[in-house]
Amino acid sequence: LFAGPVDFVKGVVAMDGLPPADRPEVCFAGRSNVGKSSLINALTGRKGIARASNTPGRTQEINYFALGEQAYLVDLPGYGFAKAPVAVVAKWQALLKNYLAGRPTLRRAFCLIDARHGVKDVDHEIMKLLDRSAVPFQVVLTKTDKLGPNAIKPVIAQVEEALQKHPAAYPELVVTSSEKGQGIATLRAIIAGLD
Ligand code: GTP
Ligand code: MG
Repeated sequence: LFAGPVDFVKGVVAMDGLPPADRPEVCFAGRSNVGKSSLINALTGRKGIARASNTPGRTQEINYFALGEQAYLVDLPGYGFAKAPVAVVAKWQALLKNYLAGRPTLRRAFCLIDARHGVKDVDHEIMKLLDRSAVPFQVVLTKTDKLGPNAIKPVIAQVEEALQKHPAAYPELVVTSSEKGQGIATLRAIIAGLD
């Protein structure tokens, strides 16, 4: 699936702008700056295909990337703090929630959690929305290169405990670093295994 071409399709700003629901898709959700766009770049092996930046609120549209004609990878705007006007943020948060609750071809949502921070209240809110909408989701820990080898264990324990409250959650976490490439092959295999 990841061996073929990868193309940017479009940036979507309203539900009626979504591409036809004609193939499976997975999306990447998480707080602003958690590393969603960087993860898409790492997965596709195309460094700048999704725009990443150190400014929280970089991604302000729902960005669609096509893996050949077989599947879509969907880069979402972040939630939580963002360096953008309040009204603009409110608009994309509403879009984000409508998307997560109402996209029939969404096979799995990957919920990204910064390995240094663990699961926060805003993450629980999004996970509850996914529970209610019966969208299966899986947690991806990001930026693990920023942690020492022993610091990861308590974070994994905190996340696993937090996931017990969420019926739509997969119990297994994926531990990644887009910077170092950790977990990227695993995540590719998970996505390729969905149908
Ligand atoms: P928004 O679009 O604003 O919601 O952010 P995002 O979740 O798409 O984050 P983005 O990919 O833009 O990354 C935010 C910052 O974190 C950038 O400066 C990235 O270079 C950095 N970053 C992302 N992944 C990693 C990683 O695995 N390791 C390290 N060290 N830095 C990372
Ligand atoms: Mg982004």
